[in-house]
Amino acid sequence: MNDYRSRLIGCGSYLPETVVTNAELAQRVGSSDDWIVERTGIRQRHIAADGQVTSDLAEQACRRAIDHAGIDVGDVDLVVVATTTPDDTFPATATRVQAKLGIRRGAAMDVQAVCAGFVFGLAVGDNFIRTGQARTALVVGAETYSRIVDWEDRGTCVLFGDGAGAVVLQSANGDGVARGEAGWGEAPGILSTHLHSDGRFRDILYVDGGPSATQTVGHLRMSGREVFRHAVTNLAAVAEEACRANGISLNDVDWIVPHQANLRILDGIARKLGVPEGRFVITVDRHANTSAASIPLALDDAVRDGRIKAGDLVLMEAIGGGLSWGAALVRW
Ligand code: UT7
Repeated sequence: MNDYRSRLIGCGSYLPETVVTNAELAQRVGSSDDWIVERTGIRQRHIAADGQVTSDLAEQACRRAIDHAGIDVGDVDLVVVATTTPDDTFPATATRVQAKLGIRRGAAMDVQAVCAGFVFGLAVGDNFIRTGQARTALVVGAETYSRIVDWEDRGTCVLFGDGAGAVVLQSANGDGVARGEAGWGEAPGILSTHLHSDGRFRDILYVDGGPSATQTVGHLRMSGREVFRHAVTNLAAVAEEACRANGISLNDVDWIVPHQANLRILDGIARKLGVPEGRFVITVDRHANTSAASIPLALDDAVRDGRIKAGDLVLMEAIGGGLSWGAALVRW
């Protein structure tokens, strides 16, 4: 019987060249390095150059992921781009990325789940592969939040940055273990994904523009404290859900690669779960919050510096506007 699983066979990321430190930003927006570091753990962010759009960042991340995976670009038959800052209202940014990479077959689509977008994109890619509808998928998180933050609002503009990260998923079949059988969790690949949304919380994190409602692009608006509270509760809960579904405990997880919004949120989750913070991959200090790009950026960091190794169990989890949140458990 076919029992396809998705293996993560490569990753890559890209950060725009320009780095803006807290000190530079604080002067402009009436804040301070101390406030930003103390409340968020952020020290700097990368900002896209004029004319550099989300698909440009995504293209670079994809090229590195394709190279890392050792595949040919022609192998890719699905491109999923998770973004809240698309190049245009349409077509999908994924189709721009597909064209820039020279991919001429398969499908390309965007996934919109804000900061949870990469986990939602992984679930889409995984499900296409598991059903046999795709064989090699690029799943990308790419954002240019510098274009939608309100630079007059010091409560939000200091929190975000631009960047992109990508992974290559490839179908693995016939490795001898079927889903649900003993040993399934030991073989490399995506073990499970867990997605949630609750649209009642729209007003605590949204953009006050859009093609249908206002015919403007709009700016990000957030009730930080409310989002903070939901983030700690929901991310702790979905981590436990992912472990329960696979019959493992959090002690079995080698690395947690969380969405990078705020160091204090990560402290809160670590405390709630009783997991030492040393098992969290943390990049928020250098990257700030890059929304859908934050997990693949952090993942690439930890894979390339050798922290995440073959056989490790990796839990990725994120929450963002919607509210939407989710987790993916992966054997590397
Ligand atoms: O990706 C998912 C979405 N985002 C998040 O997960 C973010 C979740 N929330 C947070 O990270 C935090 O709530 C923030 C970092 C946004 C804010 O931290 P906070 O401890 O909740 O601060 P606050 O918003 O309650 O503001 C405290 C004070 C206020 O002054 P008063 O009213 O106490 O006089 C703000 O006006 O800090 C002031 N403040 C600032 N001061 C200096 C707000 N932003 C700044 C700033 N610099 N940049």
